[in-house]
Amino acid sequence: MTEDLRLARQIIGRIERDIMDRRGLNYEWEAIDPAIMKEELMPEWERIITTEISSSREAGKMLPPVLDATCGSKTMWFDKNDKRCLYIDNRKGEYPVTRYSRPNTGPTTVAPDKVIDFTDMPFPDGVFHHIVFDPPHLSKLGDTSTFAKVYGKLLPDWRDMLKQGFSECFRVLRCGGTLIFKWCEFEIPLSEVLKLTTEKPLYGHRTGRREKTHWLAFLKALA
Ligand SMILES: C[S@@+](CC[C@H](N)C(=O)[O-])C[C@H]1O[C@@H](n2cnc3c(N)ncnc32)[C@H](O)[C@@H]1O
Repeated sequence: MTEDLRLARQIIGRIERDIMDRRGLNYEWEAIDPAIMKEELMPEWERIITTEISSSREAGKMLPPVLDATCGSKTMWFDKNDKRCLYIDNRKGEYPVTRYSRPNTGPTTVAPDKVIDFTDMPFPDGVFHHIVFDPPHLSKLGDTSTFAKVYGKLLPDWRDMLKQGFSECFRVLRCGGTLIFKWCEFEIPLSEVLKLTTEKPLYGHRTGRREKTHWLAFLKALA
């Protein structure tokens, strides 16, 4: 219900802008007679509520509750084909690894359910209950390096990339849903990365030999 209301508000805002545009009024600082707005808004609104909200609900129904936005080779998963999760990554394939620190691990296989870029996800708002976001954390890598094959790499404009990734993850997360963010502070401090989202983590935990890997839990506000 909350998600429907949020979607409804977005749609109403969009129609109001259109109505004011048609009348040559500026939405930001001009006002329109509420009676005229109601008269024009209602028929449009009734048409849209039956198409946009129900198609968004339908699309949401087809999706499992969990999204792994950067699944890679799914090393963190107990079950690499857990039916409760939709696994996405922006690449798919087998990447031969020659100098990986764990010997005899074989090639890295990246087999997402869908090849999708986390900066532009084709999902409606508020559809997932839980998201895990474990983006690449290194930027100074050659494309053929083992680390780039296993973990992917940050683009030169990594701030924009991660900012948009956070924004998309929180958009497709439902209100009251949780997001787990994993970050290794090898090159870029966590404090720099947390500046890229306005959401505040609840708590976290450090792992790894040098405790450089952070696991943080976020909660999307209820409304
Ligand atoms: C640190 S690895 C994830 C490891 C994974 N959590 C595991 O358990 O093995 C980061 C992954 O993010 C993917 N990636 C990088 N940029 C992406 C983007 N724009 N959209 C989606 N996935 C991306 C990389 O291909 C890489 O597989």
